Amino acid sequence: MNLDPIFSPFHLKNFRLKNRLGVAPMTRMSSVQDSIPRDDVLEFLVRRAKNGAALVYTEAIVTDYESAQGYPGQARLLTQRQIDAWKPVVRAIRDAGAVSVMQMFHCGRVSWPEINPAGRTIAPSPIIPRDNNHLTGKPYPAPDAMSRFDIDHVILGFVETAKGAIAAGFDAVEIHGAHGYLISNFLSAYTNQRDDAYGGSVANRFRFAREIIQAVAPVIPEDRLLFFRISDWGVVDLDVSLFRTKEEYQEIISLLSREPLDAISVSTYNFQAPAFGAGRNMAQLTREATSLPIMICGQIYDRATAELALQDADIVLSAKSMLLNPDWVQDVRLGKPLRRYRSAEADIAYTDTPLP
Ligand SMILES: Cc1cc2nc3c(=O)[nH]c(=O)nc-3n(C[C@H](O)[C@H](O)[C@H](O)COP(=O)(O)O)c2cc1C
Repeated sequence: MNLDPIFSPFHLKNFRLKNRLGVAPMTRMSSVQDSIPRDDVLEFLVRRAKNGAALVYTEAIVTDYESAQGYPGQARLLTQRQIDAWKPVVRAIRDAGAVSVMQMFHCGRVSWPEINPAGRTIAPSPIIPRDNNHLTGKPYPAPDAMSRFDIDHVILGFVETAKGAIAAGFDAVEIHGAHGYLISNFLSAYTNQRDDAYGGSVANRFRFAREIIQAVAPVIPEDRLLFFRISDWGVVDLDVSLFRTKEEYQEIISLLSREPLDAISVSTYNFQAPAFGAGRNMAQLTREATSLPIMICGQIYDRATAELALQDADIVLSAKSMLLNPDWVQDVRLGKPLRRYRSAEADIAYTDTPLP
């Protein structure tokens, strides 16, 4: 019997992951025309599948042509041309024995006027991030509090993007509810000060996420998967805990567990860090509140950290190690001494240098 916790299979509904290591979603900002990533960026995903990753995520795909785009050169999956561009990538990932996941997102208040096609920044409440935009050095614009029309429009973008992913052949779709982007803006009282049905109680703040899940789920065929990503931190105002207490976080996880999801992906800065002063890490707190499969990431870089992470989660995702070390899966298998990459080293992701 294979008792290796990393290189043992895991069953996600009708899918069998060959091991527990996946490529985390990574925005590469490489699309020039038509919101389609550069060829070498697409080939990178296929190569990681060929090199042993069991699960391969796309970058965060933007859900509409209006207010969803948060970074230059992001991709979309709405037009036939975009769908056709992803088809061979998805097929090649499958041929390599890996599961393909399309992650979709709306940037919410983390928006730049320069790249926002309709010049509209929308969020649950008109609260500007404290931090300036790291890439431009300028303040973020003041968001418009979302109207009923905005809410319906955004939900439609998620549904149409999920349809695009299914048409392209993706095995799974993930709704990005993490990192201080739009869905996360609704979940957190830090950015949601609405006094209507979408603000206030945890159940109300969860309503927008729930409506997206409920609208997307019917377009995901029975033999494909639907995931949700969550985090307690955001890319702006990094020091802020987006959930005020462990109880609040666990209530959201319980609410997610009642939805038609196949896994929850928990994004952390450091998977070992105790959260909410509770003496337990994010995976442990998530596990207490759900029986859904859990993915974890955040500074998992070698065999020892992956094994430790798998004590409280089912699947490990790596961004920086997968990005910078093409042999990472094999190196972990061999138990090679590996180092933890610094965030600045990952900036290569945004250059036009093809990665090995
Ligand atoms: C270049 C780069 C791009 C990223 N883009 C995304 C993204 O599009 N969506 C997302 O959910 N997380 C994104 N992340 C965060 C990673 O998925 C991951 O949560 C984080 O890097 C921590 O994992 P690590 O310590 O293994 O790097 C990105 C990270 C990097 C380094």
